[in-house]
Order: sequence, then C-alpha cells, then structure tokens
Amino acid sequence: MTTQTSPEERASQLRALAEQASSCTQCGLSGGRTNVVFGYGDPDADLMIVGEGPGQHEDEQGLPFVGRSGQLLDQLLGEIDLRREDNVYIGNVVKCRPPGNRDPRQDEIDTCKDYLREQLRLIDPKVVVTLGNFSSKLLLRTETGITKLRGRAYEWWGRFLIPTFHPAAALRGSASVLEAMRADFGLVADIVAGRLRPEEPTASPDAPAEPPAEPNSFAEPAVDQLGLFR
Ligand code: URA
Repeated sequence: MTTQTSPEERASQLRALAEQASSCTQCGLSGGRTNVVFGYGDPDADLMIVGEGPGQHEDEQGLPFVGRSGQLLDQLLGEIDLRREDNVYIGNVVKCRPPGNRDPRQDEIDTCKDYLREQLRLIDPKVVVTLGNFSSKLLLRTETGITKLRGRAYEWWGRFLIPTFHPAAALRGSASVLEAMRADFGLVADIVAGRLRPEEPTASPDAPAEPPAEPNSFAEPAVDQLGLFR
C-alpha cells in the first residue's frame, strides 16, 4: 500500500502523533504510567512488529521491548539479519502499561487503537508481525487463537501479516514455541527480502486472508487506507 506523502513528511507526522500520545489521558491506563511507550524504530520501515503493551521496563524507559522479551525479539531479528534500528519499527496495541502487567482490557484496546492505525498508515510497512493473541486477534479481526493463526503469512490490506507467538510465551514455554517463532521469522525474512510476494500467500484458502468487510467494522471511514480493526 503506497501513500502519496514523502517518507520525510510521514516521519514528521509520526513524531507529531508521538508527541500527542505523550500527554494522552483517554483511558485509565494513563493514570498509572511513568511513560507512554509510543513505539521505536525506522519510520520508513519495511517491517513493523506489534506487541501487546508495555511492561515495567518499557514503562520506565519509554521504549518497547526492552526487557527479557525484547532481548529474545532482538535475537530472533538478528537471526534473520535485521535490527530494530534498521528497517524495523516496533509498537504495541496499548501504549501505556496495564497495572501489574495484566492483560489490556477491550475498552483500553479500543481507545488506543487509533494510534496503532495511524502508525501503520504512516510507516506503511510491507510486512506486519503480530506478537501474541492481542495484536493478532485485533489486526486479523478474529477470535481464533495464536496457536491456530500462526505458521503462515496473511495477505492483509495490500501487505503481509505474519502472526506469531509473543516472546514471553517462548520464555515461559517449551522449546517448540521458540522453534515455531523461528519458522515464522523465516517467513518474515523471505518476504522482506522479496523472495515471497503478496501474489503468493502461504495462507490456506479457508484462512481469513483479509479482515472480513463488516459494515460496522469501519468505525472511522475517514481513515481511507485501513478500516483496520473493529
Ligand atoms: N511485551 C509487549 O507486548 N510489549 C512490550 O513492549 C514489552 C513486552
């Protein structure tokens, strides 16, 4: 999906959005945060990674994935010759830390998703990787869990979306979770390198290749590119 604006203009709009988010009080999470964790990386990235929400370290530093999950994410990126500073952008579904690292609530996700929608529109990545259930379900508009969703690339609004496990699951879980993530990042590498094109999705025919066009799902029709999420 190409946008008309130049990369410089999109980067500038992204900075303005981050500035706006830094004083956001639209949901209750704002009351407990130290910092808004808007996102980090290359504003013109080919790959955008979407996690769930900041934890303690992220809240303290104002940066996404700087704790143990982040170390594992960096390792997985490194294994496919990518680095978070370079052609990669990392964000989250919610930008403020849920208290005690609880799951984000639906009302918090709904309130925050405009920021994510704008990040996706401005960064305009070729590939989106969703880490875990929250971002995968939100962007693919499905109730299907990550274990079933992962393992394939979905054609998604003119780009690819690859859902995979959250790194925290690999840190908690068995070696097979990490191996599954490695396989998914292998797909990412293929697509970023242009070895797999949107005309050749790996999704099976019954998979939700694109979010279904439900009339009610286009909450903000003014956002032309993406009626992204419910
Ligand atoms: N887990 C997430 O989902 N996001 C972060 O930024 C850190 C941990």
